Amino acid sequence: MHPTVDNDALDHAARLLRPAHRVAVLTGAGISAESGLATFRGAGGLWEGHRVEDVATPAAFQRDPALVWRFYNLRRASLATVKPNAGHLALVELEQRLGANFALVTQNVDGLHQAAGSRNVLEIHGSLRRVRCVGCARISDRGAKPLADLPNCEKCTAMLRPDVVWFEEPLPEDIWRQAVEAVQTCDCLLVVGTSAIVYPAAGLIDVARLEGADLIEVNLQKSAASARVDALLLGPSGTMLPELIKRLG
Ligand code: APR
Repeated sequence: MHPTVDNDALDHAARLLRPAHRVAVLTGAGISAESGLATFRGAGGLWEGHRVEDVATPAAFQRDPALVWRFYNLRRASLATVKPNAGHLALVELEQRLGANFALVTQNVDGLHQAAGSRNVLEIHGSLRRVRCVGCARISDRGAKPLADLPNCEKCTAMLRPDVVWFEEPLPEDIWRQAVEAVQTCDCLLVVGTSAIVYPAAGLIDVARLEGADLIEVNLQKSAASARVDALLLGPSGTMLPELIKRLG
């Protein structure tokens, strides 16, 4: 067991989660950290001297699509080797207990929740595995296969872009609507591995709170959401989530 595991906090969180009929989860990059994927903020948050945010905007793509694709091709390449960790698997187990009363909203674009076996996954920031044509808007799933330095659409030859949500872009409408509904109707929201500073995603935490849900947070350190949660589990999600699920009995 991780040396910093706080049994009282875990027992308290389990008491909140156990009676919940409907559960929603909001995950961020932290849940994939133990699979070996870098988070956005904090150590290692720079890429070739650029702030990660600076290669994830429509303006950056217009200015220098080759630079943006270099960044995304590296991220796509890492997908071929990474595997879900114990945190992802614990959420699969939670979904198996709750069935249709479970929804997993993720800001991650790495596909690791689905690879672990989660089914009701709402990818509010898109997916690294998919590309979208800037001309004809056709979307295709390319998995983790390497793409050209500047890939083009097979149908209309216009440039392809990653099918992810960049800063300053709207979220996919239908997925976002389902995410809002999931947090509005849940009895308990688990917030895992997110700095909770990127909106509108972080606003889901407030929606759940306003609707009276209990909030449980799992993070290595306090986040922007920590002051608003009912139970804070400080530690790696790969340890804390399995410990929490184990306590549900
Ligand atoms: N277990 C739990 N939490 C962890 C772990 C871990 N093993 N490792 C890191 N964390 C926490 C960090 O403490 C931090 O609070 O995960 C969080 C990661 O925060 P960010 O890097 O800001 O990632 P995220 O919140 O997902 O970012 C939101 O920003 O750049 C955009 O679109 C991108 O979806 C992303 C959004």
